[in-house]
Amino acid sequence: MGSSGKLREVREYEEKMGAKIPMEKRPAFHLSSRIGWMNDPNGFSFYQGQYHLFYQYYPYNTVWGPCYWGHAVSKDLIHWEYLPAALAPDEEYDKDGCFSGSAIELEDGRQMLIYTGVVKKEMEDGSIRDLQQQCLAFGDGLNYRKYENNPVLTFQDLPKGCSPYDFRDPKIWQEEDGTYRIVTCCATPGRDAKIVLFQSKDGIHWENGRQMIQNFDRFGKVWECPDFFQIDGKWVLLTSPMDMLPEGFEYHNGNGTLCLIGEFDEESGMFTPQHDQAIDYGIDFYATQTLRTPDGRRIMIAWMQNWDTTPGYRLEPTSWFGQMTIPRELSVRNGRLYQWPVKELEQIRRNRVSYENVYVNGEMELDGIRGRCVDMQIEVRSADPEHPYEKFVIRFAAGGRYYTMLSYHPRDCIMKIDRKFSGSRRAIIHQRRAEVPSRDGSVKIRLILDRYSAEAFINEGEQTITANLYTDMGAQRITFNALGAVSMNIVKYDLI
Ligand code: FRU
Repeated sequence: MGSSGKLREVREYEEKMGAKIPMEKRPAFHLSSRIGWMNDPNGFSFYQGQYHLFYQYYPYNTVWGPCYWGHAVSKDLIHWEYLPAALAPDEEYDKDGCFSGSAIELEDGRQMLIYTGVVKKEMEDGSIRDLQQQCLAFGDGLNYRKYENNPVLTFQDLPKGCSPYDFRDPKIWQEEDGTYRIVTCCATPGRDAKIVLFQSKDGIHWENGRQMIQNFDRFGKVWECPDFFQIDGKWVLLTSPMDMLPEGFEYHNGNGTLCLIGEFDEESGMFTPQHDQAIDYGIDFYATQTLRTPDGRRIMIAWMQNWDTTPGYRLEPTSWFGQMTIPRELSVRNGRLYQWPVKELEQIRRNRVSYENVYVNGEMELDGIRGRCVDMQIEVRSADPEHPYEKFVIRFAAGGRYYTMLSYHPRDCIMKIDRKFSGSRRAIIHQRRAEVPSRDGSVKIRLILDRYSAEAFINEGEQTITANLYTDMGAQRITFNALGAVSMNIVKYDLI
């Protein structure tokens, strides 16, 4: 089918089919796919007065397929409005997928998308590999036209030792001097990750591909969806490595996430990490992307899902699959990455309920503390410092046979999420542990619930734990349980 035909067809399809999904069968304030499948956030940017969020999209099924770019806009990062799909895989150079990429406003006022065009190639041994090249499209925030000279970056532009089959996910930004940069992921033919940096005067003609960093087998294999920026005086590289090996309490997700904090040498283009950590310690989190807001905040969003837990997870018939996390403001403190829900979320808080110095020893429930769309902050400490408590548990989305829980063991400094009883009928991973240091058992948890997900921000966002849950909506209870004596403060809001 000709280029515009495929896009016209998908736009009609998503409008008709997306409208059939009742609002209450979607997350209330997290972006979900309009129809069909969603993975990575793409083109997360601010353009002409609103935030744009594109996403990897296969509208015709709830499993991954040759990718389109879905599109949504928001004035406040919380209320999203769907726009028609932006890109379809309809050209020779992207016929097998418009893979991940990013967006920027050019000097002439146009919005430019830079993405990876994928073409399947048969190898000599009969196997099929994805040839990956970087492509452009220009638009007005609604309609986009692919650049007539695509692709703008091919395998030939890569430094020596890079494979043409793992060259993707360009993330663009503009420097203060007006020039543009992208980082892309690349790999050796043996799949050892590299990040390559390119520069451009106009955003269209790219040159000087330089290797910023190579993995040398330290963090997984190929790294996907890189992002690179400066914050609080440090340079931060975020990426999502495939096939990770766990290290202590880090990197338990197979397809995991990695934050490297360090120094960048402009001259040589080399990045030297001084600190590494997982970005999130939960189950469903991958493929981050950030933007800078007009007021200077660095905001990150991610696919609230993980490749390892997608297959066959949801059993009930549904016509959408995939959600984004809540947008999170980033900072670097004491050499670590911190995350906090964007302050815009506070605008949808209603019905404040608060309690102070509640004594918990055994199980209890509190009047007014329940619900599935909730913003709740809990401060926990030992009621008697002489006798520290052993365990503190919050159960949520609880009712009938169901609950999901967060538990904290101060002696081992372990925070755990467990969604085994969330209603899943699949033997996929349902638990994850994070190391949360505490000297005396004091810990602060901010828990954001939205129908099908839970995001916990621990100790001002020093760790985050993200998981989705497809528990029956009748399960609305929240309970607290302590082994030993705990004193807690709670502030809870409904999110409406
Ligand atoms: C990451 C990823 C990207 C790629 C896209 C394809 O989840 O594998 O590297 O561009 O998904 O949908």
